Amino acid sequence: MIVAMTLIDTIHFTDYSTEISFSEPYCENNYENRLFVTDSRIRSLNRPFDDFCSRIPDGRCLTLPSGEEVKNADSLFRILDAAFNLKLDRSGEMIAFGGGVLTDLTGLAASLFKRGCSVVFYPTTLLAMIDASVGGKTGIDYRGLKNMIGTFYPAREVRIDLNFLKTLPENEYRSGLGEAIKTAMLGDRELFDILLRESDAVAAREEGVLREIVSRCVKVKARFVREDFREKGIRAYLNWGHTFAHAFEAVCGLGSLTHGEAVVWGIDKGLKAADLIGRGNAAYAEAFEELVNKYGFAVETPVPDFEGFCEALSQDKKKNGGDLLFVLQSGPCETFRAPLSIEILRKTVPALHV
Ligand SMILES: NC(=O)c1ccc[n+]([C@@H]2O[C@H](COP(=O)([O-])OP(=O)(O)OC[C@H]3O[C@@H](n4cnc5c(N)ncnc54)[C@H](O)[C@@H]3O)[C@@H](O)[C@H]2O)c1
Repeated sequence: MIVAMTLIDTIHFTDYSTEISFSEPYCENNYENRLFVTDSRIRSLNRPFDDFCSRIPDGRCLTLPSGEEVKNADSLFRILDAAFNLKLDRSGEMIAFGGGVLTDLTGLAASLFKRGCSVVFYPTTLLAMIDASVGGKTGIDYRGLKNMIGTFYPAREVRIDLNFLKTLPENEYRSGLGEAIKTAMLGDRELFDILLRESDAVAAREEGVLREIVSRCVKVKARFVREDFREKGIRAYLNWGHTFAHAFEAVCGLGSLTHGEAVVWGIDKGLKAADLIGRGNAAYAEAFEELVNKYGFAVETPVPDFEGFCEALSQDKKKNGGDLLFVLQSGPCETFRAPLSIEILRKTVPALHV
């Protein structure tokens, strides 16, 4: 818990300026005992960042391919090998510039290298800024299952440079917005209103509103993590919308909606289910619908077949053990967990084949 506190207290917002934002954090030019890790897509889309990487001495900047497929044991060992080759010692540091894939992967490598060296994150996607870089969960995918191998190991520091969001592709940005909506519903009513009111500024990625979104989301996540670092209780509320979303992704294929969009789809189902079990809140559901319409999230998309969807849900149950409890809400910041019957699920989830 104390570790999580340390993490939250050391989050910085660097100045927003293309000229200095990449050089400022490393103006000391100190590469000694440090390994930098990033991915090729960020470098190819972001010229100032690519220039920054090019100045890092040989062997100290490992550039991996991009995408979820990279989150595997091979990449993990590429990072560990690079650290060995550089003779990083235990007081050494790994520095990840990237989205959630890179921060999860580098966090895991840092937690294993010589039983744990320091790690610093520069999250470069909205999702990584508000979610993946905060809270200390690291991991790789294994045997086709997400995050099957991992540790709890918070970064020493998370440095958020909003400049990175300038080059983030639109679908990745929307994915982060989906998680921001989830976070607002869980713990910040004012953020929910800001997202409703400021949708134009959000769409235009204006710095002021981005700063507000990121700092508020980080604070909400920090609250949950501080109370329940190892997810024995209320940290599981952060999975609001996710049980439905994971099953949707399993049957529709990853990529038919981005992860954040699937989460918004899942939240819509969660609100409907809460209503069907007599714990809904009509005004709240209407406000959510307004938000969804403003941002154009697709919540009506049907799953191909209902049986397949239930099968995917049961995989989630196997993974977590015991009964499948859905995170649900009966109002803003009023979150609870409950099982759902097959009849309720049938009424909640639109399917092409029932
Ligand atoms: N540890 C946690 O608590 C936690 C929480 C949520 C998600 N995650 C993990 O995060 C991962 C998803 O993270 P993500 O959505 O950031 O995806 P990602 O890391 O795959 O990044 C998305 C894409 O955007 C590109 N990109 C990143 N930053 C860019 C930039 N500034 N400009 C241009 N392109 C850029 C990347 O190369 C990649 O192609 C998943 O593996 C998930 O399991 C972890």
